[in-house]
Amino acid sequence: MGNILEPIKNKEQQLSELAQHVEALDSSPLYKFRIENNYKSVFGEGNPDADIMFIGEAPGAQEAETGRPFVGKAGKHLDSLLCSIDLQREDVYITNIVKDRPPNNRNPHVSEIEVYSPFLREQIAIIQPKIIATLGRFAMEYIIDLYQIPVIDKKIGEIHGTSMLIPTEFGKIIFFPLYHPAAVFYNRNLEAVLDIDFKILKKLA
Ligand code: URA
Repeated sequence: MGNILEPIKNKEQQLSELAQHVEALDSSPLYKFRIENNYKSVFGEGNPDADIMFIGEAPGAQEAETGRPFVGKAGKHLDSLLCSIDLQREDVYITNIVKDRPPNNRNPHVSEIEVYSPFLREQIAIIQPKIIATLGRFAMEYIIDLYQIPVIDKKIGEIHGTSMLIPTEFGKIIFFPLYHPAAVFYNRNLEAVLDIDFKILKKLA
């Protein structure tokens, strides 16, 4: 039980305290790279009361320079997908599993996911979204494992655009896996797939 003299912190205060912990996380394998490059950690941003929480993989160069998630080329695509369903960034919450930029935009290592995922779990517990929409394979696999979602196939090609009810400590919510918005730069056919999946997301929200 908390001390009755302690003021109850609102979501924004709780998120900001958590962000400070990430900023000070010198035990992270990516901390030295951040400092050497004068980068910022990228905690996440958006509406703390959002119904939809988007979870991507890890920041790229522009994100690490600004301290904001999804502000580069993939972010522009995410913005236009949001706009296509009449949403703005301010309506949703956007974050990543890994909160510092991996060198050369390589895939995050398991050890990095282990270091940063407790912060993601805290963010989910604070925001209590109605929908967790993952962007790409890494976030999708993490959420499937975290909530032990009984998917028949863990392949994004099989389960993207499918909504699944998951029990959390704050009630049942929807898990909705999506392709990463950058996937269309490598495979143009995915553009239509993402468009359709966002239309489905709009109906769920
Ligand atoms: N890709 C991600 O997964 N996250 C970002 O913030 C930017 C690009």
